[in-house]
Amino acid sequence: MPLPALRTFEQRIERHLRVLELKKSVIERDIRRQFRLFERKRDGIGKKIEEKIRQFERKRGIRFDDEVHFIRSWIERPLRTGAVTPSGKVLARAMARYVDPESDGPVVELGPGTGPVTQALVAAGVAPSRLVLVEFNPTFCRLLRGRYPDATLVQGDAYSLRRLLEALLLQPAAAVVSGLPLVTKPMKMRLRLIRDAFDLMLPGAPFVQFTYSVASPLPRRLAGFSVQASERIWMNIPPARVWVYRKADDGRRANDYR
Ligand SMILES: C[S@@+](CC[C@H](N)C(=O)[O-])C[C@H]1O[C@@H](n2cnc3c(N)ncnc32)[C@H](O)[C@@H]1O
Repeated sequence: MPLPALRTFEQRIERHLRVLELKKSVIERDIRRQFRLFERKRDGIGKKIEEKIRQFERKRGIRFDDEVHFIRSWIERPLRTGAVTPSGKVLARAMARYVDPESDGPVVELGPGTGPVTQALVAAGVAPSRLVLVEFNPTFCRLLRGRYPDATLVQGDAYSLRRLLEALLLQPAAAVVSGLPLVTKPMKMRLRLIRDAFDLMLPGAPFVQFTYSVASPLPRRLAGFSVQASERIWMNIPPARVWVYRKADDGRRANDYR
């Protein structure tokens, strides 16, 4: 390209870049404004939803305390809570089905929330004393402590799993069942979590995870573990799928694909 033509070309590119920059900052400003608006309104929105639920309860003579706890928690920390309502019974049962109640060792549950999956595990025959529940939210922890006094409750960040559980588990875990909203975390964190979980588990033991998203929350074709998926569970709101990852019993560690 002759020099003047090259200069004109460069100038055009620069002009486009400036326009893009300008558009980007306008979009960013708009997002920040929308977020501030949401922040201002969210308490009001939360109270309205709660009031509607209470009206429904009064009419029907039933209580939805867990749902109210969940909505409050979602309003305060939407990304961390990861759902607006607790999992339904069908999804909770589907998760529990992957845990062998006759197996040996503790069963770790990450992000039990108000405990629907915990309840399904116990109903499937897992003794509450085998359960190790790792939950961040103090309100959910209080609830769980009252409901499962024989379980071990760890209030903390599940993404520091090794630090939290290494000394606590006296034998390898028979399963890890997770309700964590994994997809809100970077892939590197998810892989570190499953590596830590596998290090705490028996070879071949399941890491059971549900997700609302279409794809597997962990890559399907990575060496070192096998992957299994349930059918989509349409009876849950929103519909979900259960993914089960097992460490391949070939000496490789999950670090090998970090
Ligand atoms: C989508 S909810 C699932 C709750 C419950 N398992 C269910 O199925 O209804 C995610 C849960 O994970 C908890 N959670 C999120 N991040 C966490 C973390 N880093 N450590 C421990 N718990 C966490 C939330 O407080 C919430 O209880």
